[in-house]
Amino acid sequence: MSCRIAVFGTGYLGATHAACMAELGHEVLGVDVDVSKLAKLEAGEVPFYEPGLEEVLKRNLESGRLRFTSSYREAADFADIHFIGVGTPQRKGEYAADLTYVDSVIEQLVPLLTRSTTIFGKSTVPVGTAQRLGARMRQLVPAGVDVDLAWNPEFLREGFAVQDTLHPDRLVLGVDSVDPGNAEDIARLVYSDLLDEGIPLLVTDLATAELVKTAANAFLATKISFINAMAEVCEVAGADVSVLADAIGHDVRIGRRFLNAGIGFGGGCLPKDIRAFMARAGELGADEALTFLREVDNINMRRRTRMVELTREAVGGSLLGSRIAILGAAFKPDSDDVRDSPALNIAGQIQLQGASVNVFDPKAMDNSRAIFPTLNYASSSLEACEGADVVMVLTEWREFKDLDPVEIGIVVRNRTILDGRNCLDGSRWANAGWRYRGLGRRPIEGGRDDHAEGGSARA
Ligand code: UDX
Repeated sequence: MSCRIAVFGTGYLGATHAACMAELGHEVLGVDVDVSKLAKLEAGEVPFYEPGLEEVLKRNLESGRLRFTSSYREAADFADIHFIGVGTPQRKGEYAADLTYVDSVIEQLVPLLTRSTTIFGKSTVPVGTAQRLGARMRQLVPAGVDVDLAWNPEFLREGFAVQDTLHPDRLVLGVDSVDPGNAEDIARLVYSDLLDEGIPLLVTDLATAELVKTAANAFLATKISFINAMAEVCEVAGADVSVLADAIGHDVRIGRRFLNAGIGFGGGCLPKDIRAFMARAGELGADEALTFLREVDNINMRRRTRMVELTREAVGGSLLGSRIAILGAAFKPDSDDVRDSPALNIAGQIQLQGASVNVFDPKAMDNSRAIFPTLNYASSSLEACEGADVVMVLTEWREFKDLDPVEIGIVVRNRTILDGRNCLDGSRWANAGWRYRGLGRRPIEGGRDDHAEGGSARA
């Protein structure tokens, strides 16, 4: 059965959710206060890079099932079901999450409701938020109107957003334990295709649903920092962290995924979510339970400084006057997102130490320029590498893994490559005369380093 749905927020989460709900056959209205974003979406253009989303967006705009508006009144009049998919960024100068946008949806929408409605929160929020919003909702709701608030966290990964929304591992629904209303029935209707596919739906209380999301992200961040801590040990012990990860990953209790050592995690979710989680646990008096997350954060940030150190070592101790090629700016491949990107952060640190930095990323150039306008931006990998003393691969885009070491070797000053994601075939580079260095692995020396234009072998 087709439902009438409004989705508030048209960022990564909201735009994907709106388009995918229309794909499931529902009639959907996407709502945002940013009219420039709405204009793009209405024209069938996704304001960020997300493989496969544009096709879903266009198909559903054409069918008329998907529309966009900036009017809360229109949304209140149109929809029986509302999803909140606005951002919850880190507060400036604090660890806690900024809930302004979530609060504002409730404040603006609820007084406009004219009939019984279910509101599903999807944004990642500190535990206790849904209960607080529910209480506020009951103050704001017009007399005679019945509203239920439930929490339905989203687990989508950038780069796989459509797949993760239409075929998630699980659906989680938190309902008010005192007055659950009919939120579960409504959710079963909205997601009936997913449930028919056998995707499990876990119905919980509000607090558990909120915590499932934060706990999942905390676990993933911990897994990455665990392997990066092993990389630190491997470096001093002369061992290889990639082989170690393969070997421990065969144990199904451990699993190989999210054990890729490198420059660590970034993006709009993991870093801010673990910080908001620590802040919330502190407010609730359980700060000791999450002190390990501070270490997870520390290990993660240390990888960035370690990468800068390795670059400095590779050019003989000082970055002053050196030329560094940086391949990759997005926080991960198949995304143009540069929020808290380890790659850009490293690029910035290297430039601050006096190097000239040339950055290339297949999709994230505009976003990078906007936040780091003083770096040099090249129009291809080859151009970025021209005259470089060190080439660094900091985001594991397919096109970087496929680079030809011989072709790149011709344009650089020194054949030294630092693999910040352990994504390259080191022996292939070494065979082409490069000095290859991954994080948490022994360097592989190949041929002579000072082949070109009389360049000094500083590595
Ligand atoms: C994450 C969660 O995976 C997702 O479930 C949640 O809904 C939102 O946050 P996302 O931010 O899109 O998704 O990225 P993810 O794929 O989790 O990667 C996060 C960061 O960790 C990236 O910077 C990535 O490069 C890094 N990473 C990932 C590693 O360093 N090593 C790994 O093994 C895996």
